[in-house]
Amino acid sequence: MKVVTVFGTRPEIIKLSPVTPLMDKKFEHVIIHTGQHYNYEMDKIFFDELELRNPDYSLNVGSDTHAVQTAKMMVGIEKILMDYKPDIVNVFADPNTPLAGALAAAKLNIPVVHIEAGCRSFNKKMPEEINRILVDHCSELLLASDKTAVNNMISEGIHEKNIRLVGSTIVDAVNRNIKLARKTGVLKNLGLKAGAYIVLTLHRAENTDNAEVLNGIIKAINHLSKKIAVVFPVHPRTQKILGRALKISDSVKRIEPLGYLEFLQLISNAKFIITDSGGIQEEADAVDVPCVIARNETEWVELVDAGRNILASTDTEKIIGVSETLLNDESRLNEIKKIGSVRKAGASQKIVGEIEEYFGGSKK
Ligand code: UD1
Ligand code: UDP
Repeated sequence: MKVVTVFGTRPEIIKLSPVTPLMDKKFEHVIIHTGQHYNYEMDKIFFDELELRNPDYSLNVGSDTHAVQTAKMMVGIEKILMDYKPDIVNVFADPNTPLAGALAAAKLNIPVVHIEAGCRSFNKKMPEEINRILVDHCSELLLASDKTAVNNMISEGIHEKNIRLVGSTIVDAVNRNIKLARKTGVLKNLGLKAGAYIVLTLHRAENTDNAEVLNGIIKAINHLSKKIAVVFPVHPRTQKILGRALKISDSVKRIEPLGYLEFLQLISNAKFIITDSGGIQEEADAVDVPCVIARNETEWVELVDAGRNILASTDTEKIIGVSETLLNDESRLNEIKKIGSVRKAGASQKIVGEIEEYFGGSKK
Protein backbone atom coordinates (compact mmCIF):
# COMPACT_ATOMS: atom_id res chain seq x y z
CA MET A 1 0.00 0.00 0.00
CA LYS A 2 1.30 3.47 -0.93
CA VAL A 3 0.82 5.90 1.94
CA VAL A 4 1.48 9.64 2.07
CA THR A 5 1.70 11.53 5.36
CA VAL A 6 1.47 15.31 5.33
CA PHE A 7 2.72 17.45 8.22
CA GLY A 8 4.16 20.90 8.75
CA THR A 9 3.92 22.31 12.28
CA ARG A 10 5.65 21.67 15.60
CA PRO A 11 2.88 19.63 17.24
CA GLU A 12 2.32 17.53 14.11
CA ILE A 13 6.04 16.70 13.91
CA ILE A 14 6.22 15.78 17.61
CA LYS A 15 2.97 13.82 17.84
CA LEU A 16 3.70 11.92 14.62
CA SER A 17 7.28 11.13 15.70
CA PRO A 18 6.37 7.71 17.18
CA VAL A 19 4.08 6.90 14.22
CA THR A 20 6.33 7.74 11.27
CA PRO A 21 8.89 4.93 11.82
CA LEU A 22 6.05 2.41 12.13
CA MET A 23 4.51 3.65 8.86
CA ASP A 24 7.93 3.36 7.19
CA LYS A 25 8.15 -0.29 8.26
CA LYS A 26 4.63 -1.25 7.22
CA PHE A 27 3.91 0.72 4.06
CA GLU A 28 5.55 2.31 1.07
CA HIS A 29 5.58 5.64 2.86
CA VAL A 30 6.19 9.13 1.54
CA ILE A 31 6.32 12.21 3.80
CA ILE A 32 5.42 15.72 2.66
CA HIS A 33 6.52 18.60 4.91
CA THR A 34 4.58 21.73 4.02
CA GLY A 35 6.99 24.11 5.79
CA GLN A 36 4.18 25.85 7.70
CA HIS A 37 6.67 26.00 10.58
CA TYR A 38 10.24 26.67 9.48
CA ASN A 39 12.36 28.35 12.20
CA TYR A 40 15.03 25.92 13.40
CA GLU A 41 13.51 25.77 16.90
CA MET A 42 9.97 25.19 15.51
CA ASP A 43 10.96 22.53 12.99
CA LYS A 44 14.42 21.12 12.26
CA ILE A 45 15.38 20.75 15.92
CA PHE A 46 12.76 18.02 16.32
CA PHE A 47 14.15 16.04 13.37
CA ASP A 48 17.60 16.21 14.94
CA GLU A 49 16.53 15.41 18.51
CA LEU A 50 13.91 12.77 17.75
CA GLU A 51 16.06 11.18 15.04
CA LEU A 52 13.33 11.51 12.43
CA ARG A 53 14.09 10.81 8.81
CA ASN A 54 14.01 13.69 6.37
CA PRO A 55 10.71 14.31 4.56
CA ASP A 56 10.61 13.14 0.95
CA TYR A 57 9.20 16.49 -0.15
CA SER A 58 9.55 19.94 1.44
CA LEU A 59 7.14 22.55 0.14
CA ASN A 60 8.61 25.48 2.11
CA VAL A 61 5.33 27.44 2.04
CA GLY A 62 6.16 29.53 5.14
CA SER A 63 3.78 32.03 6.75
CA ASP A 64 1.00 34.02 5.08
CA THR A 65 -2.72 34.70 5.39
CA HIS A 66 -4.84 31.59 5.89
CA ALA A 67 -6.04 31.52 2.28
CA VAL A 68 -2.63 32.07 0.69
CA GLN A 69 -0.84 29.64 3.01
CA THR A 70 -3.47 26.91 2.59
CA ALA A 71 -3.68 27.42 -1.18
CA LYS A 72 0.10 27.22 -1.63
CA MET A 73 0.13 23.98 0.34
CA MET A 74 -2.72 22.52 -1.70
CA VAL A 75 -0.98 23.30 -4.99
CA GLY A 76 2.25 21.64 -3.82
CA ILE A 77 0.52 18.62 -2.28
CA GLU A 78 -1.77 18.07 -5.28
CA LYS A 79 1.19 17.89 -7.68
CA ILE A 80 2.88 15.21 -5.59
CA LEU A 81 -0.32 13.20 -5.13
CA MET A 82 -1.09 13.27 -8.87
CA ASP A 83 2.38 12.03 -9.62
CA TYR A 84 2.78 9.44 -6.80
CA LYS A 85 -0.84 8.20 -6.76
CA PRO A 86 -0.96 6.97 -3.15
CA ASP A 87 -3.69 4.67 -1.83
CA ILE A 88 -4.29 6.88 1.22
CA VAL A 89 -3.19 10.23 2.69
CA ASN A 90 -2.66 10.72 6.44
CA VAL A 91 -3.17 14.11 8.02
CA PHE A 92 -2.93 15.05 11.66
CA ALA A 93 -5.05 17.32 13.90
CA ASP A 94 -6.17 20.82 12.98
CA PRO A 95 -3.61 23.31 11.61
CA ASN A 96 -3.85 24.64 8.04
CA THR A 97 -1.47 21.87 6.94
CA PRO A 98 -3.91 18.96 7.51
CA LEU A 99 -6.71 21.03 5.95
CA ALA A 100 -4.66 21.50 2.79
CA GLY A 101 -3.63 17.83 2.73
CA ALA A 102 -7.16 16.57 3.24
CA LEU A 103 -8.74 18.85 0.63
CA ALA A 104 -6.08 18.13 -1.98
CA ALA A 105 -6.42 14.36 -1.46
CA ALA A 106 -10.22 14.22 -1.20
CA LYS A 107 -10.62 16.14 -4.47
CA LEU A 108 -8.44 13.54 -6.16
CA ASN A 109 -10.64 10.80 -4.65
CA ILE A 110 -7.77 9.57 -2.50
CA PRO A 111 -9.06 8.35 0.91
CA VAL A 112 -7.96 10.56 3.80
CA VAL A 113 -7.04 9.25 7.24
CA HIS A 114 -7.50 11.89 9.92
CA ILE A 115 -5.42 11.21 13.02
CA GLU A 116 -6.62 13.07 16.14
CA ALA A 117 -10.05 13.39 14.57
CA GLY A 118 -13.24 14.57 16.25
CA CYS A 119 -11.89 17.28 18.55
CA ARG A 120 -14.29 20.18 18.99
CA SER A 121 -14.15 23.38 21.01
CA PHE A 122 -17.54 24.49 19.64
CA ASN A 123 -15.95 27.87 19.03
CA LYS A 124 -15.96 28.61 15.31
CA LYS A 125 -13.85 31.74 15.85
CA MET A 126 -10.86 29.40 16.21
CA PRO A 127 -9.25 28.65 12.82
CA GLU A 128 -8.55 25.14 14.15
CA GLU A 129 -12.29 24.45 14.67
CA ILE A 130 -13.04 25.22 11.01
CA ASN A 131 -10.12 23.06 9.91
CA ARG A 132 -11.13 20.07 12.07
CA ILE A 133 -14.74 20.06 10.94
CA LEU A 134 -13.77 20.24 7.28
CA VAL A 135 -11.06 17.59 7.60
CA ASP A 136 -13.30 15.20 9.52
CA HIS A 137 -16.09 15.51 6.99
CA CYS A 138 -13.90 14.72 3.99
CA SER A 139 -11.99 11.86 5.66
CA GLU A 140 -12.60 8.15 5.16
CA LEU A 141 -11.01 6.83 8.37
CA LEU A 142 -11.23 8.92 11.54
CA LEU A 143 -8.86 8.02 14.35
CA ALA A 144 -9.88 9.57 17.64
CA SER A 145 -7.85 10.21 20.79
CA ASP A 146 -10.74 9.85 23.23
CA LYS A 147 -14.43 8.99 23.57
CA THR A 148 -15.51 12.63 23.54
CA ALA A 149 -14.01 12.99 20.06
CA VAL A 150 -15.82 9.82 18.91
CA ASN A 151 -19.14 11.15 20.24
CA ASN A 152 -18.59 14.57 18.64
CA MET A 153 -18.26 12.94 15.24
CA ILE A 154 -21.24 10.63 15.68
CA SER A 155 -23.41 13.57 16.68
CA GLU A 156 -22.40 15.33 13.43
CA GLY A 157 -23.58 12.34 11.41
CA ILE A 158 -20.22 10.71 10.70
CA HIS A 159 -20.79 6.96 10.52
CA GLU A 160 -19.42 4.75 13.29
CA LYS A 161 -17.95 2.37 10.73
CA ASN A 162 -15.46 5.09 9.76
CA ILE A 163 -14.37 5.89 13.33
CA ARG A 164 -11.79 4.14 15.54
CA LEU A 165 -10.75 5.04 19.07
CA VAL A 166 -6.95 4.74 19.16
CA GLY A 167 -5.81 7.08 21.94
CA SER A 168 -3.25 9.87 21.74
CA THR A 169 0.27 9.44 20.39
CA ILE A 170 1.56 12.06 22.82
CA VAL A 171 2.04 9.36 25.48
CA ASP A 172 4.22 7.34 23.09
CA ALA A 173 6.22 10.47 22.24
CA VAL A 174 6.75 11.21 25.95
CA ASN A 175 7.71 7.61 26.76
CA ARG A 176 10.22 7.47 23.91
CA ASN A 177 11.94 10.67 24.99
CA ILE A 178 11.61 11.12 28.74
CA LYS A 179 14.90 9.37 29.59
CA LEU A 180 16.85 11.52 27.14
CA ALA A 181 14.98 14.57 28.41
CA ARG A 182 16.26 13.90 31.94
CA LYS A 183 19.82 14.15 30.66
CA THR A 184 19.37 17.73 29.44
CA GLY A 185 20.79 20.47 31.64
CA VAL A 186 17.84 22.80 31.07
CA LEU A 187 17.00 23.38 34.74
CA LYS A 188 20.60 24.20 35.60
CA ASN A 189 21.00 26.37 32.49
CA LEU A 190 17.93 28.40 33.42
CA GLY A 191 18.84 28.54 37.13
CA LEU A 192 15.69 26.64 38.18
CA LYS A 193 15.00 24.22 41.02
CA ALA A 194 12.66 21.25 40.42
CA GLY A 195 9.16 21.98 41.73
CA ALA A 196 9.91 25.66 42.32
CA TYR A 197 8.68 27.22 39.08
CA ILE A 198 5.76 27.24 36.69
CA VAL A 199 5.88 26.97 32.89
CA LEU A 200 3.78 29.24 30.69
CA THR A 201 3.03 28.83 26.98
CA LEU A 202 0.67 30.98 24.92
CA HIS A 203 0.05 30.96 21.19
CA ARG A 204 -3.66 30.49 20.40
CA ALA A 205 -4.74 33.18 17.95
CA GLU A 206 -7.86 33.91 20.02
CA ASN A 207 -5.59 34.76 22.98
CA THR A 208 -2.67 36.49 21.26
CA ASP A 209 -4.61 38.47 18.66
CA ASN A 210 -7.07 40.04 21.07
CA ALA A 211 -5.30 42.80 23.04
CA GLU A 212 -7.77 42.73 25.90
CA VAL A 213 -7.52 38.97 26.35
CA LEU A 214 -3.72 38.92 25.98
CA ASN A 215 -3.24 41.78 28.44
CA GLY A 216 -5.59 40.06 30.91
CA ILE A 217 -3.48 36.91 30.82
CA ILE A 218 -0.23 38.90 31.11
CA LYS A 219 -1.66 40.74 34.14
CA ALA A 220 -2.28 37.39 35.85
CA ILE A 221 1.20 36.13 34.98
CA ASN A 222 2.90 39.31 36.22
CA HIS A 223 1.03 38.90 39.51
CA LEU A 224 2.03 35.22 39.84
CA SER A 225 5.67 35.96 38.98
CA LYS A 226 5.97 37.85 42.28
CA LYS A 227 5.27 34.56 44.08
CA ILE A 228 7.08 31.92 42.01
CA ALA A 229 9.52 31.77 39.10
CA VAL A 230 7.73 31.71 35.73
CA VAL A 231 9.43 30.36 32.60
CA PHE A 232 7.88 31.36 29.29
CA PRO A 233 9.19 29.80 26.06
CA VAL A 234 7.70 32.22 23.55
CA HIS A 235 6.05 30.96 20.35
CA PRO A 236 6.97 33.09 17.27
CA ARG A 237 3.34 34.21 16.81
CA THR A 238 3.33 35.54 20.37
CA GLN A 239 6.82 37.03 20.06
CA LYS A 240 5.57 39.16 17.15
CA ILE A 241 2.72 40.54 19.24
CA LEU A 242 4.31 41.02 22.67
CA GLY A 243 5.88 44.35 21.71
CA ARG A 244 2.37 45.81 21.41
CA ALA A 245 1.01 44.20 24.58
CA LEU A 246 1.18 45.02 28.28
CA LYS A 247 4.77 44.78 29.48
CA ILE A 248 5.66 41.38 30.86
CA SER A 249 7.31 41.70 34.23
CA ASP A 250 11.11 41.31 34.22
CA SER A 251 10.74 38.52 36.75
CA VAL A 252 9.16 36.32 34.05
CA LYS A 253 11.90 34.32 32.30
CA ARG A 254 11.12 34.81 28.62
CA ILE A 255 13.05 32.39 26.44
CA GLU A 256 13.11 31.14 22.85
CA PRO A 257 11.03 28.02 22.12
CA LEU A 258 12.86 24.98 23.46
CA GLY A 259 13.64 21.68 21.76
CA TYR A 260 11.36 18.79 22.72
CA LEU A 261 13.81 17.15 25.14
CA GLU A 262 14.49 20.33 27.09
CA PHE A 263 10.81 21.25 27.07
CA LEU A 264 9.81 17.83 28.35
CA GLN A 265 12.34 18.07 31.15
CA LEU A 266 11.15 21.62 31.94
CA ILE A 267 7.46 20.69 32.24
CA SER A 268 8.11 17.39 34.05
CA ASN A 269 9.75 19.27 36.91
CA ALA A 270 7.39 22.24 37.06
CA LYS A 271 5.07 22.84 40.00
CA PHE A 272 2.36 23.30 37.39
CA ILE A 273 1.83 24.56 33.86
CA ILE A 274 -0.29 27.42 32.50
CA THR A 275 -1.01 26.99 28.81
CA ASP A 276 -3.40 27.43 25.90
CA SER A 277 -1.66 24.67 23.92
CA GLY A 278 -3.58 21.53 22.98
CA GLY A 279 -0.57 19.22 23.01
CA ILE A 280 0.76 20.51 26.32
CA GLN A 281 -2.59 19.83 28.06
CA GLU A 282 -2.13 16.17 27.11
CA GLU A 283 1.58 16.14 27.90
CA ALA A 284 0.89 17.54 31.37
CA ASP A 285 -1.28 14.50 32.07
CA ALA A 286 1.40 12.17 30.69
CA VAL A 287 4.18 13.66 32.86
CA ASP A 288 1.85 13.97 35.86
CA VAL A 289 2.02 17.74 36.34
CA PRO A 290 -1.13 19.81 36.97
CA CYS A 291 -2.18 22.05 34.09
CA VAL A 292 -4.12 25.32 34.19
CA ILE A 293 -5.79 26.01 30.83
CA ALA A 294 -5.84 29.70 29.89
CA ARG A 295 -8.78 29.33 27.52
CA ASN A 296 -12.56 29.50 27.77
CA GLU A 297 -13.05 26.01 26.36
CA THR A 298 -10.95 22.96 25.65
CA GLU A 299 -11.12 20.01 23.28
CA TRP A 300 -9.63 17.76 25.96
CA VAL A 301 -12.64 17.85 28.29
CA GLU A 302 -11.95 14.32 29.51
CA LEU A 303 -8.76 15.51 31.19
CA VAL A 304 -10.69 18.30 32.89
CA ASP A 305 -13.58 16.01 33.88
CA ALA A 306 -11.09 13.52 35.33
CA GLY A 307 -9.75 16.29 37.56
CA ARG A 308 -6.30 16.31 35.94
CA ASN A 309 -6.46 19.71 34.20
CA ILE A 310 -8.21 22.89 35.27
CA LEU A 311 -10.07 25.07 32.78
CA ALA A 312 -9.43 28.53 34.22
CA SER A 313 -10.70 30.70 31.31
CA THR A 314 -8.78 33.79 30.16
CA ASP A 315 -10.05 35.95 33.00
CA THR A 316 -7.24 37.52 35.06
CA GLU A 317 -8.79 36.87 38.45
CA LYS A 318 -9.74 33.29 37.59
CA ILE A 319 -6.21 32.44 36.40
CA ILE A 320 -4.80 33.97 39.57
CA GLY A 321 -7.37 32.20 41.78
CA VAL A 322 -6.79 28.72 40.34
CA SER A 323 -2.99 29.20 40.31
CA GLU A 324 -2.81 30.52 43.86
CA THR A 325 -4.70 27.47 45.11
CA LEU A 326 -2.07 25.27 43.47
CA LEU A 327 0.71 27.44 44.90
CA ASN A 328 -0.60 27.59 48.44
CA ASP A 329 -2.32 24.27 48.93
CA GLU A 330 0.02 21.29 48.57
CA SER A 331 -2.89 18.90 49.21
CA ARG A 332 -4.66 20.18 46.06
CA LEU A 333 -1.55 19.39 43.99
CA ASN A 334 -1.33 15.93 45.53
CA GLU A 335 -5.02 15.31 44.91
CA ILE A 336 -4.48 15.92 41.17
CA LYS A 337 -1.41 13.69 41.07
CA LYS A 338 -3.19 10.89 42.93
CA ILE A 339 -5.74 10.54 40.10
CA GLY A 340 -2.98 9.26 37.81
CA SER A 341 -2.54 9.68 34.05
CA VAL A 342 -5.72 9.39 31.97
CA ARG A 343 -3.99 8.95 28.60
CA LYS A 344 -2.49 5.51 27.92
CA ALA A 345 0.44 4.39 25.75
CA GLY A 346 0.12 2.43 22.50
CA ALA A 347 -1.82 4.76 20.17
CA SER A 348 0.91 4.77 17.52
CA GLN A 349 0.77 0.99 17.02
CA LYS A 350 -3.02 1.10 17.01
CA ILE A 351 -3.05 3.77 14.30
CA VAL A 352 -0.91 1.69 11.96
CA GLY A 353 -2.94 -1.44 12.80
CA GLU A 354 -6.28 0.26 12.12
CA ILE A 355 -5.05 1.67 8.82
CA GLU A 356 -3.81 -1.74 7.74
CA GLU A 357 -7.06 -3.41 8.72
CA TYR A 358 -9.29 -0.79 7.14
CA PHE A 359 -7.49 -0.45 3.82
CA GLY A 360 -5.60 -3.76 3.76
CA GLY A 361 -2.17 -4.45 2.38
CA SER A 362 1.20 -3.83 4.04
CA LYS A 363 4.52 -3.85 2.18
CA LYS A 364 5.47 -7.36 3.42
C1 UD1 B 1 -0.29 26.93 14.02
C2 UD1 B 1 -1.68 26.28 13.98
C3 UD1 B 1 -2.16 26.01 15.39
C4 UD1 B 1 -1.14 25.21 16.19
C5 UD1 B 1 0.21 25.91 16.12
C6 UD1 B 1 1.25 25.06 16.79
C7 UD1 B 1 -3.05 27.04 12.09
C8 UD1 B 1 -4.20 27.87 11.67
N1 UD1 B 1 -2.65 27.19 13.35
O1 UD1 B 1 -0.43 28.19 14.64
O2 UD1 B 1 -3.36 25.27 15.35
O3 UD1 B 1 -1.56 25.10 17.51
O4 UD1 B 1 0.58 26.11 14.76
O5 UD1 B 1 2.36 25.78 17.18
O6 UD1 B 1 -2.54 26.28 11.30
N2 UD1 B 1 6.18 31.97 12.63
C9 UD1 B 1 7.53 32.09 12.59
N3 UD1 B 1 8.28 30.97 12.40
C10 UD1 B 1 7.74 29.74 12.25
C11 UD1 B 1 6.35 29.63 12.29
C12 UD1 B 1 5.58 30.74 12.49
O7 UD1 B 1 8.07 33.18 12.71
O8 UD1 B 1 8.50 28.76 12.09
C13 UD1 B 1 5.35 33.18 12.89
C14 UD1 B 1 4.98 33.92 11.62
O9 UD1 B 1 5.03 35.27 11.90
C15 UD1 B 1 3.53 33.51 11.41
C16 UD1 B 1 3.02 33.28 12.83
O10 UD1 B 1 4.16 32.79 13.55
O11 UD1 B 1 2.79 34.48 10.72
C17 UD1 B 1 1.90 32.28 12.92
O12 UD1 B 1 2.25 31.05 12.28
P1 UD1 B 1 1.13 30.09 11.66
O13 UD1 B 1 1.76 28.89 11.11
O14 UD1 B 1 0.24 30.86 10.75
O15 UD1 B 1 0.23 29.72 12.89
P2 UD1 B 1 0.61 29.33 14.37
O16 UD1 B 1 0.24 30.44 15.27
O17 UD1 B 1 2.00 28.83 14.41
N1 UDP C 1 6.96 22.32 22.67
C1 UDP C 1 8.35 22.31 22.52
N2 UDP C 1 9.04 23.44 22.89
C2 UDP C 1 8.43 24.55 23.39
C3 UDP C 1 7.02 24.53 23.54
C4 UDP C 1 6.31 23.41 23.16
O1 UDP C 1 8.93 21.33 22.07
O2 UDP C 1 9.11 25.53 23.70
C5 UDP C 1 6.21 21.12 22.27
C6 UDP C 1 5.38 20.49 23.36
O3 UDP C 1 6.15 19.56 24.08
C7 UDP C 1 4.22 19.84 22.61
C8 UDP C 1 4.10 20.69 21.35
O4 UDP C 1 5.27 21.50 21.29
O5 UDP C 1 4.53 18.51 22.24
C9 UDP C 1 2.87 21.55 21.42
O6 UDP C 1 2.87 22.43 20.37
P1 UDP C 1 2.10 23.81 20.36
O7 UDP C 1 1.81 24.22 21.75
O8 UDP C 1 2.87 24.73 19.50
O9 UDP C 1 0.78 23.46 19.54
P2 UDP C 1 -0.63 22.80 19.90
O10 UDP C 1 -0.38 21.50 20.58
O11 UDP C 1 -1.39 23.77 20.73
O12 UDP C 1 -1.27 22.65 18.57
